[in-house]
Amino acid sequence: MRLSQEPIFSAADIKARVTELGAEISRDYAGRPLTIVAVLKGAAAFSSDLMRAIDMEHKIEYVRARSYAGTQSTGHVEWLHLPEKDLLGRHVLVAEDILDTGRTLHDLQGKLGAMGVASVSICALLDKPSRRILPIAAQYVGFTIEDQFVVGYGLDHNERYRHLDAIYGLEVATD
Ligand code: IMP
Ligand code: MG
Repeated sequence: MRLSQEPIFSAADIKARVTELGAEISRDYAGRPLTIVAVLKGAAAFSSDLMRAIDMEHKIEYVRARSYAGTQSTGHVEWLHLPEKDLLGRHVLVAEDILDTGRTLHDLQGKLGAMGVASVSICALLDKPSRRILPIAAQYVGFTIEDQFVVGYGLDHNERYRHLDAIYGLEVATD
């Protein structure tokens, strides 16, 4: 496995898009009690940039899911951490690194619904619609991509590459 030579999305591309998403979210949620629920570890970088691009008071909670081993979806979502604060009556915006099969967010939507939230929307930095198994749609999407494994800006392959400031494709080396 090796990284694509050029990033698919540069640090500047990501910054510009996150700024746009923050402006759109600030307009849509004005006057409403907003809590971002960031899905660790993948959305750690994205959610911390996104919250600073949102120009209104809001709160943040973290959940931690594990559903992947290598590049293969295991089909089972394990929750290692769920929100500590009461989300009753809050408008929740889930921040996710990438929407793939939809299993993680389908499971999380059910859990948040049971907590009595006022609404749940999804903000995914990346969306791979061709991989969808469950009918989950994100209201806010940074970039839509083909069925390709990507790393960087929080996204990993077996815990590597999260620190990169741009997003790269991970290619199977042929030489
Ligand atoms: P889903 O439950 O299949 O939608 O998977 C969502 C999770 O799988 C994401 O939050 C990522 O952690 C992981 N994932 C899916 N596609 C990729 C990828 O291309 N690179 C890195 N992680 C990925
Ligand atoms: Mg993730």
